[in-house]
Amino acid sequence: MCGIVAYIGQKEAYPIIVKGLKRLEYRGYDSSGIALQGNNSINIYKKQGKVVNLEEFTENLDRSGTVGIGHTRWATHGEPNDVNAHPHYSEDKDLAIIHNGIIENYDSLKHQLLSKGYTFRSETDTEVLCYLIDDIRKNTGAKLGESVRMALQQVVGAYAIVIMSKDEPNKLIAARKSSPLVVGIGKEGDFYLASDATPIIEYTKQVVYLADEEIAVIKRGSELKLYGIDDVEKTPYIQELELHLEAIEKGGYEHFMLKEIHEQPRSIEDCFRGRLNASEGRVSLGGIKEYEEKIINANRVIMIACGTSWHACLVGEYLFEDLARINVEVEYASEFRYRNPIIGENDIVIAISQSGETADTLAALELAKSKGATILGICNVVGSSISRITDAGSYTHAGPEIGVASTKAFTAQVTVLTLMALSLAKQKNAINESKYRAMLSGLEVIPQKVQQVLEKNSEMEFIASQYQSASNALYLGRGSSFPVALEGALKLKEISYIHAEGYPAAEMKHGPIALIDEEMPVFVIATKGTSYEKVVSNIQEVKARKGKIIAIVTEGDTQVKEIADHTVEIPETDEHLVPLLATIPFQLLSYHIAVMRECNVDQPRNLAKSVTVE
Ligand code: M6R
Repeated sequence: MCGIVAYIGQKEAYPIIVKGLKRLEYRGYDSSGIALQGNNSINIYKKQGKVVNLEEFTENLDRSGTVGIGHTRWATHGEPNDVNAHPHYSEDKDLAIIHNGIIENYDSLKHQLLSKGYTFRSETDTEVLCYLIDDIRKNTGAKLGESVRMALQQVVGAYAIVIMSKDEPNKLIAARKSSPLVVGIGKEGDFYLASDATPIIEYTKQVVYLADEEIAVIKRGSELKLYGIDDVEKTPYIQELELHLEAIEKGGYEHFMLKEIHEQPRSIEDCFRGRLNASEGRVSLGGIKEYEEKIINANRVIMIACGTSWHACLVGEYLFEDLARINVEVEYASEFRYRNPIIGENDIVIAISQSGETADTLAALELAKSKGATILGICNVVGSSISRITDAGSYTHAGPEIGVASTKAFTAQVTVLTLMALSLAKQKNAINESKYRAMLSGLEVIPQKVQQVLEKNSEMEFIASQYQSASNALYLGRGSSFPVALEGALKLKEISYIHAEGYPAAEMKHGPIALIDEEMPVFVIATKGTSYEKVVSNIQEVKARKGKIIAIVTEGDTQVKEIADHTVEIPETDEHLVPLLATIPFQLLSYHIAVMRECNVDQPRNLAKSVTVE
């Protein structure tokens, strides 16, 4: 987690950095800070809480300077307070550093430095790295870049860092390993650095994504120089950003989450672009086309992810198995990697991740790769670590997702998995032509149907008003609606802080039924399909115990309407496509409940968008 921003050039650094930090606040908001190159000194300001606190704190302080580094923190080592906030600085304040990641061997490095007489101010691993660089610099007389390189050779862990020195005021040194870092190349020899491209986009579209163990030496008015940790110079690969400014602004919505929920008809359509043509009976995912044969003949296909992306994997499992008759195992990335899994060359591991930076998912992939498996990725963020280490993959093209609670990324992931399953099913002859054609046509009109569900917004707001004070909630679904139930429960938990559980509807009678009383709202996906009658029976069981039933049903349903306290109709669609529609009312419900409970919708407590720690 954590977001980092830096600038060196002709303009005032403070406004650029603060604006950038606000864009990166989704990565963590425990504290923020900035260091500005002053006149023969570095001015460092840090404050607990959000960037706005830092702005207030610095209002009457010297914020001038054309070189600076800034940080917004998601606390790992040390509680969120002013002292532990970044930037950290060397004992004599000659160096300042910002860091996203974790220095795993910080304790042993700290002991070495303590034995040399250094005293530390904070509890962080980052301060240790700063002192180490400073110690090397002082003992060897090396320049900043070389000192950073030597220090990083001693470091075990993950880092994206930017460092500035009072003694080399026209220079920034940056480096990365396993945490993202982008360098934007401005027009007049100015440079912008950030954890992702959102703070950079309005200044330049020319960017270089640093690769693992690359060190950038950035001098004002000069060319960007890149070196490996082995000191071998590299040629920067300059890319053109495809991101647009509107995509990262609220566009009139009160919260990013609401904007992103409403963007889903378009994000799903974007996901189809060039991949789906129902009238020609064509579905194709260019990125993984050449791996299809391998997937079909694989010994095992394992899908790994965390959080919402893990729920998308569960939907993928149903789709691959039912449509393409390909066996899939779904694993939590964090469990998979520590289980000494049996993986071989004929296995395929597919990682799903919005950010493409989730540490557990990344580490699980690296493990699978080291055992010879083919690794594929489904990511949203272009150029992210997962998209770079995988053999091949498909982007979800959902556009930037800024709200910490994932919404449009989930439906885009499910869309990619549906396209993949259909393509594999066709290739394998596992699906008959009429079913295949019907599914393509059904998929093609999903954006319009999502739009129809979004029109239920006020209905969901009303339901939210009825249950906003609940302490617990149960979400039930069967088949591919079970992951939708899990996702509904996660959305409610993470943004409204109401305890919620998702269960396969039939499992309720094996325990959770004991929780049901007149206070308990039970959200059920009861759309028409294979398990409809069974789910109706489950609803009856809840009703008999006086639970409150809120059911998502297919348009025109009469049976559930008679029993449920509330029903929300969604348009009829193929059973396999229901997750793309049924998930939307739950997103709206959680959103409205969170607003009614005055929770911070876009930045819920204790969370961060991109979880780059294990
Ligand atoms: O970026 P990723 O998709 O890898 O992130 C995985 C989870 O951290 C993420 O889905 C998390 O559960 C969200 N807060 C859910 O809304």
